[in-house]
Amino acid sequence: MTNDKRGRPATTDGGAPVQSLEHSLTVGSDGPIVLNDHYLIEQMANFNRERIPERQPHAKGSGAFGHFQVTGDVSKYTKAKVFQPGAKTDIVARFSTVAGERGSPDTWRDPRGFSVKMYTEEGNFDMVGNNTPVFFVRDPLKFQSFIRSQKRRADNGLRDHDMQWDFWTLSPESAHQVTYLMGDRGIPRTWREMNGYSSHTYSLVNEAGEMFWVKFHFKTDQGDGNAHFTQEEADEMAGADSDYHRRDLFNAIAEGNAPSWTLYFQIMPFEDAKTYRINPFDLTKVWPHKDYPLIEVGKMVLDRNPTDFHTEIEQAAFEPNNMVPGVGLSPDKMLLARGFSYADAHRARLGVNYKQIPVNKPQAETNAYTKDGALRVNKSEDPVYFPNSYGGPEAHPQKSEAGLWYSDGEMVRQAYTLREDDDDWSQAGSLVRDVMDDAARERLVNNVTGHLCDGVSEKILQRAFEYWRNIDGDIGARIEKAVRDKLGGESKAPGMASAKSIGG
Ligand code: HEM
Repeated sequence: MTNDKRGRPATTDGGAPVQSLEHSLTVGSDGPIVLNDHYLIEQMANFNRERIPERQPHAKGSGAFGHFQVTGDVSKYTKAKVFQPGAKTDIVARFSTVAGERGSPDTWRDPRGFSVKMYTEEGNFDMVGNNTPVFFVRDPLKFQSFIRSQKRRADNGLRDHDMQWDFWTLSPESAHQVTYLMGDRGIPRTWREMNGYSSHTYSLVNEAGEMFWVKFHFKTDQGDGNAHFTQEEADEMAGADSDYHRRDLFNAIAEGNAPSWTLYFQIMPFEDAKTYRINPFDLTKVWPHKDYPLIEVGKMVLDRNPTDFHTEIEQAAFEPNNMVPGVGLSPDKMLLARGFSYADAHRARLGVNYKQIPVNKPQAETNAYTKDGALRVNKSEDPVYFPNSYGGPEAHPQKSEAGLWYSDGEMVRQAYTLREDDDDWSQAGSLVRDVMDDAARERLVNNVTGHLCDGVSEKILQRAFEYWRNIDGDIGARIEKAVRDKLGGESKAPGMASAKSIGG
């Protein structure tokens, strides 16, 4: 703490000096306290209102400030000023777990959130991704159920592996992400050592108006992106230091050991999307690098810690709809739904004027036709309506976000049209066979076995064996044998039939 306030007068929030910081105002030293002790009341009232709602998913996390600097030349893909050669932009980043609550241990098995807000001269650009390149579901209508299945049961308020595997095994599109989750990425050693991915496909547009599809990859400069805790190490750390990841990032930056990441674009030419063998907008799939290699863009450095966690991190509001000219959304159904969901969550969590909180405030000039509302700070100016005859701000159509690629056709509720390689199992299978080595496969089998032996009922266990056999026959057989050996036969866990099952 550097700000030395010794000897300075303590004040009320209104700035008036406080007479005593220890003694309430009473009628005589043994008498009752009085209602006109404004300072006592201010203290109690403020205390009672300190907590704001936590984020629905991704409640536990932390972050830091820094910059993003372009080192490559990707100007032929995007006109966004933040990605032009040499551009340097201030940023805030936040890392998180998904299912845990605000006080839950950092080392619980979960994907990790990887959010970056860039304060560009054309407005804020947010990349709200994860430490894995894919996700559990591909339709936003299943997202709410998915998160509920990972959090807590209605009856006993406990986390429940039976519920998790019930959802996953009934949702085969989860196979790829569950394989990541049960592997080393499920418990990164530190946030500094993990990669970050947009996971989604976005669109880019260049000065000439040409469009490209892109996935963002932030590769850590601290190792190969796979540094992890084993399940046993993570369980121990959850007890020893539940804030381990938060502490590690804070201490590293405080010691001048600023972590950095290199950003790459994975570019798909616009026309390829129509015929590529995998639906390029399906969030459960990666694009093999041999088809679309990574192109270096720049470096992100985190070198400044927050000085007030609440105002700078807890009140940070990231949203995928924060786009700048030259970057746009794509026909990914999940991404389009996120375009609505986050701003709605922020209005509920922080209030309608959350973009005026300093951490969310753009560095770009704002001339918005919004007005009033709770806790508004920005002054509105006349004219407050459009069209007007008084010189109000005007639209700039040439600067709008990249156009979307809509398919024509009738309104339907259907899955994506399947392509040649669009099955749910192959990419998860090649992650096991081609990316993991023997030791990583062994850890995967142990992690899944431990998870399945902890409260999963027999019916769902059998579906889980089939799920893993579909991913890879050999791994499926190994998991089944290890679970049967450990349980000594069938599972006795009751699942939803009783409130007695346990989970962690
Ligand atoms: C946080 C919704 C999918 C990454 C959140 C929050 C909501 C939400 C409501 C809390 C926001 C807040 O209160 O600040 C959704 C919906 C999804 C979806 C509706 C799908 C339809 C995803 C995916 C990713 C992701 C696919 C990663 C690729 C994150 C991250 C945060 C977050 C990193 C935390 C942001 C922060 O650090 O403040 N999500 N989400 N979400 N989500 Fe999602």
